[in-house]
Amino acid sequence: MDKSKVRYKTFKHADLSVWASPQLLALAAAKKIAFLAEDAISQRGCFKIVLAGGNTPKMTYEALIAHSIDLSDWHIYLGDERYLPPSSYELNSQMVERTLLSKTKISPKNIHFFDVGKPPARAAYEYQSLLQNAYPFDLVMLGIGGDGHTASLFPGTSSVDDSEMVLVVNDAPKSPSTRLTMSFDSLSNNRNVMLLASGLDKCVAVSKLCSGGEVPAFQVLSRNTPLIYLDKDAASLIPSSR
Ligand code: 6PG
Repeated sequence: MDKSKVRYKTFKHADLSVWASPQLLALAAAKKIAFLAEDAISQRGCFKIVLAGGNTPKMTYEALIAHSIDLSDWHIYLGDERYLPPSSYELNSQMVERTLLSKTKISPKNIHFFDVGKPPARAAYEYQSLLQNAYPFDLVMLGIGGDGHTASLFPGTSSVDDSEMVLVVNDAPKSPSTRLTMSFDSLSNNRNVMLLASGLDKCVAVSKLCSGGEVPAFQVLSRNTPLIYLDKDAASLIPSSR
């Protein structure tokens, strides 16, 4: 597919590829994740991955399962969680459980989710302690919202704070308004960061991201050499870069 190493004025380098459909995007992203996992496992014995909520990441989890990727040496974390009752269908952890973890063999001790049974501040504090022992991650996966948010870092909210590694957001514009999220710094400073976006509703946010606009996703990606996987709709407004 239309795959190119792109140099943007604003990113030092971005490994950006555009795919004809969300399915092809998911397949390509799954292959890259499998490659990074193999590399991490051969070098360090395990693969530490931070997963994302949202539809495009979900399709990528389905592609991983369709290709029978072995997760037994993976350690799974989440970049953010919706603060909802532990049994809620809408939790990012529940989506990951349904689409990925329940369909493969992985030890429960390798799964590291937020404890939404605790009060938000306590859950954030405990997740931060857990992350401190896991840094750096081999891969952080991210989605992007139409407003340019990533993880639960929304424009103009209390999440714009780097003093802690995990934050409680009480004023998210996307439901639920209370969320737990890794901060800009903790999402950025890792071995690989991958952003996935598909659909026309993402094209304005993606164009702002690629031209260095004031969107939270840019604040995470600009500190790294990001892997960016887009479908043609999400990429349709990207400004020419060369
Ligand atoms: C969530 C995620 C959020 C998501 C984006 C994109 O809780 O939904 O944390 O950051 O990745 O909103 O989601 P879609 O791909 O579903 O639009």
